[in-house]
Amino acid sequence: MVYVTRRVSFSAAHRLYNPQWSEERNQAVFDKCANPHGHGHNYVVEVTVAGIPDPETGYVVDLKLLARVLEEEILSKVDHKHLNYDVDFLRGVNPTVENLAIAFWQILEGKLPAGKLYAVRVYESENNYAEYRGEPVELTGNGVMRHGQLREERP
Ligand code: NI
Repeated sequence: MVYVTRRVSFSAAHRLYNPQWSEERNQAVFDKCANPHGHGHNYVVEVTVAGIPDPETGYVVDLKLLARVLEEEILSKVDHKHLNYDVDFLRGVNPTVENLAIAFWQILEGKLPAGKLYAVRVYESENNYAEYRGEPVELTGNGVMRHGQLREERP
């Protein structure tokens, strides 16, 4: 297997908030990330595809295709937006870095050649990122994704 990664970036605002909780509980759990008017991040997204290089092209996947899908299906919809309000595919989802990784995976999975997608990594700062590799998750009623097998490093 060869693993090929494309890295892209975007800027957006978000607020971490669970509407089923009291203000006090939101404040206690999410702290300043729950401030009512949100705050911004410069996000970095790394999408990794895996496969055997094609004998004729030497490619695992055409990176031009991956770049175009990322631009059209994700970046054009999230860049310079407020993730809680402006993005159809995040409606009702608490926009944590974990949930962004899952949501981006779900979009890319349907747009790339079958079986190629290996990992989606989303950084919201230099030190914090979540990586999702497609294990089953469940979207619960309050819009908070749960039960994901998420890899996350918070040094
Ligand atoms: Ni934040």
